[in-house]
Amino acid sequence: MSKSIIILGIESSCDDTSASIIKDGKILSNVIGNQKVHEKYGGVVPELASRAHLQNIIPVVHQAIEESGIDKKDISAVGFTRGPGLLGSLLVGVSFAKSFALANNIPLIDVNHMQGHILAHFIRDKNGNGNPPKFPFLCLTVSGGHTQIVKVNDTLGFDLIGETIDDAAGEAFDKSAKLLGLPYPGGPLIDKFAKDGNPTVFTFGIPKVDKLNFSFSGLKTSILYFIKKQTKENPNFINENMNDICASIQHSIINILMKKLEKASKETGIIEIAIAGGVSANSGLRTRLKEMENSHSWETYIPPFSYCTDNAGMIAITAYFKFLESDFCDQSISAKARMTV
Ligand code: KG4
Ligand code: ZN
Repeated sequence: MSKSIIILGIESSCDDTSASIIKDGKILSNVIGNQKVHEKYGGVVPELASRAHLQNIIPVVHQAIEESGIDKKDISAVGFTRGPGLLGSLLVGVSFAKSFALANNIPLIDVNHMQGHILAHFIRDKNGNGNPPKFPFLCLTVSGGHTQIVKVNDTLGFDLIGETIDDAAGEAFDKSAKLLGLPYPGGPLIDKFAKDGNPTVFTFGIPKVDKLNFSFSGLKTSILYFIKKQTKENPNFINENMNDICASIQHSIINILMKKLEKASKETGIIEIAIAGGVSANSGLRTRLKEMENSHSWETYIPPFSYCTDNAGMIAITAYFKFLESDFCDQSISAKARMTV
């Protein structure tokens, strides 16, 4: 029997410090250390994020190895997020991974965070069960920093066919939430209030953007003016209408996303459709995608909640596929804040 491939994955691109062990494509552990420190600032503070990563990284890696039940000496390679992300945050993960590889004399594998979000669909559970999309498929990757439509040709072949020209979908959620006085990250809170609201009470326009690209900055501005106008007339407007406002904002963001995803499917003829990234945890988006499956004969793929937001499982699975291709990097590698998929 050939030797098992055991990957330690490290993720530190934004405000989550995470480590995961994947053995032959099956996930054995996925530990995430969240950073509460940013809540009161209404967004991630880069300097505080890198300091928190420094504090978290060793305990998080230790816990991931312990929970997996494997022996540290059996790890075949270490995969880490090279970018895109916050440079100071990335540097913590990159430096740790390099030292770990050197100390244990194992190969080092650099991973693109956006590819990781997409390949999270290929993570199998401990028993080997999973539901990966079939190639080629389209993936709508929606996170706090990115909004992209990617044509995925195989595990390591990606064509970026559409992206945002300004804010990301996650930013649209978070910035709208901030206008409503909600703490960071506001996306999950908008989702929560929207569940009890009517999405058609307030309407916000859909931007006209070329090709398969997106724009969310206009939506943010129209929400800002709408809130200003309404609270001038009724200072309690937000509190009295929170559910309907959140449902209407969420509805508008989902409409913008779905319109372009529908266009991408029509233009490419691809009906295998996946979503990925933090915003794919949104219940409204998940429901709408399932509705599209019926109305458009799509085959849709939604990752489990734990693989939507940033986690090292998605980095470990990408590193696993690169390991199979002997696609390693050396110690001269550095973090890269800006990278395309
Ligand atoms: O992928 P992710 O964890 O980090 C980045 O790579 O950016 O995505 C974080 C984003 C945040 O903007 C957060 O508000 C959003 O995902 N998010 C949600 C939900 N859960 C997380 N947005 C809407 N509804 C949710 N349930
Ligand atoms: Zn992410």
